[in-house]
Amino acid sequence: MKKIKAALLGYGTVGQGIHEVLHEHQERLRILLGKEVEIVAILVQNPSKHKNLPENIVVTTNFEEIITLPELDVVFEAIVGEEPALSYLTHALDKGVHVITANKMMFAKHAKSLLEKARENDVKIGFEATTAGGTPVIRTIEQLLQVNRVEKIEAILNGTSNYILTAMSERSIDFKTALAEAKEKGYAEADPTNDIDGTDAFNKLMILSQLIFNDQPAWHKVEKTGIKDLTSTDIQAAQENNKKYKHIAVIYKEGDQLKAEVSPLLLSSSHPLYNIDGVDNAIAITSNIVGTITLIGPGAGKLPTASAMVEDLVAIFQHEPENHSIHQYKDQAAV
Ligand SMILES: NC(=O)c1ccc[n+]([C@@H]2O[C@H](COP(=O)([O-])OP(=O)(O)OC[C@H]3O[C@@H](n4cnc5c(N)ncnc54)[C@H](OP(=O)(O)O)[C@@H]3O)[C@@H](O)[C@H]2O)c1
Repeated sequence: MKKIKAALLGYGTVGQGIHEVLHEHQERLRILLGKEVEIVAILVQNPSKHKNLPENIVVTTNFEEIITLPELDVVFEAIVGEEPALSYLTHALDKGVHVITANKMMFAKHAKSLLEKARENDVKIGFEATTAGGTPVIRTIEQLLQVNRVEKIEAILNGTSNYILTAMSERSIDFKTALAEAKEKGYAEADPTNDIDGTDAFNKLMILSQLIFNDQPAWHKVEKTGIKDLTSTDIQAAQENNKKYKHIAVIYKEGDQLKAEVSPLLLSSSHPLYNIDGVDNAIAITSNIVGTITLIGPGAGKLPTASAMVEDLVAIFQHEPENHSIHQYKDQAAV
């Protein structure tokens, strides 16, 4: 049986999640795609941390070793930061290799050029995992855009901020205590700056903007405010008025202008994002025909993020002409 040959760039939380999901769901993938998916190589920074991997997988710090492998079909990218991820993905697309990325920081800035490069080379980029982790917002929006015009997005796109605001509101604790608790539970990184100052939500909003409007607002014109200046007194005053502070990313078009903002907003109980608590993400999508749809789900984590990336893999390879296997899957499911 022909195989889909995949490389993992990065073998941390997300990379290991992809490996686990591909391994545990190999049979389902074989039925869906008519092919096995094989991880042939893994790129890391420090190979000595990854000694227990099977011998038939190349483990390397050298991307050249990966991109020159014969018959490589797809790279999953789960490393951190803008470079070298951008250079690696550009190289992969130029070689006609499909790309699936979780790297929101890099993709927010370079989505336009990478998507253009993918079109030029007749390959695909999956980026579901960049925005709201395991919650399928990208695919839902792509589906809606076939007939609807998406007019507005309002979203909670950072689980760390949402956890902190929920903890402050439900248990009357202050920001510092709630942040320390989020770190202890693994919901906040050692350096949580990008989460609490709104940068992470901003990056995801720009990815949504690129998808929906095929454009982004000038970054310096987008007001971006984090949650760290909200006090317990603010939160309690909101509660007394039956309202809640939520950290909201919003984008819509006014005339020809894209308007976007990321900031803590006071929501009343009728708002679709009022009840989104804890580490969940949520996105309210308002479109001209269907009205408002709200998706809620895990915004990060090993398996939710890997799930989004493996769903991308299926979406890419199911549409390859020789794949007849969705029918096979349906036939099997009916047995
Ligand atoms: N964690 C989540 O829940 C989540 C959710 C959505 C999106 N993401 C995104 O997914 C990406 C990966 O996140 P993560 O949590 O898996 O990170 P992580 O646990 O820190 O793992 C990063 C991996 O990338 C490797 N790496 C880093 N820089 C590299 C370089 N220059 N060359 C080669 N390898 C390099 C590291 O190698 P070593 O193992 O040798 O150190 C490690 O294996 C990030 O862009 C993140 O924003 C993460």
